[in-house]
Amino acid sequence: MKRLAILVSGRGSNFEAIAKNIRAGALDAEISLVVSNNPDAKALETAADMGIRSLSLPSKGMDSDVYAARVVEALAPLDISLVCLAGFMRRVGKPLLDAYPMRILNIHPSLLPAFPGLHVQQQALDYGAKFSGCTVHFVDAGMDTGPIVKQAVVPVLDSDTAETLAARILIEEHRIYTAAIRLVLAGRYRIEGRRVVET
Ligand code: GAR
Repeated sequence: MKRLAILVSGRGSNFEAIAKNIRAGALDAEISLVVSNNPDAKALETAADMGIRSLSLPSKGMDSDVYAARVVEALAPLDISLVCLAGFMRRVGKPLLDAYPMRILNIHPSLLPAFPGLHVQQQALDYGAKFSGCTVHFVDAGMDTGPIVKQAVVPVLDSDTAETLAARILIEEHRIYTAAIRLVLAGRYRIEGRRVVET
């Protein structure tokens, strides 16, 4: 059985969707640990409700590399195949990148490379984009820059607010994150430059 670690900071709906898909038999994996850098994250309650092991590891005031080393320490005994960032709002420090090369995924609520960073649904609206969406990508040392595994597109409506657009994108996030994890765990891809080619 392939083991996942999920890193969260808040609501945890992507984590919950992955956990439910595993329960439903749509993803052959187990979640060994949920790590939250925010002790108040709702995701920690969800993990407890679902009987999934979790760890609150606050990052406040801590350097990214020091924090990453703590995460590596927590994951080391668990034989983790893939680390999934699911609404994890901190940069991933070098020790974690080095411990899991091309084995860390992130989900981002825009069609990268458009709108990296924060408040991205508002960015898409302000820019006047007619379509947005979400991206699952491998994590590298850059900000939202690693090779793209899956994307999904949603329309931006004239009547949208950042909240309504975010809600439309979130539905697709829940779908493509599981699909991307399935693909990566099965190893059915190769990387050519920046391109993730399904095999
Ligand atoms: C999701 O929309 C995710 O794509 C985004 O935060 C939200 C977390 O929701 N992540 C980022 O913006 C990462 N830069 P969730 O906690 O309910 O999964």
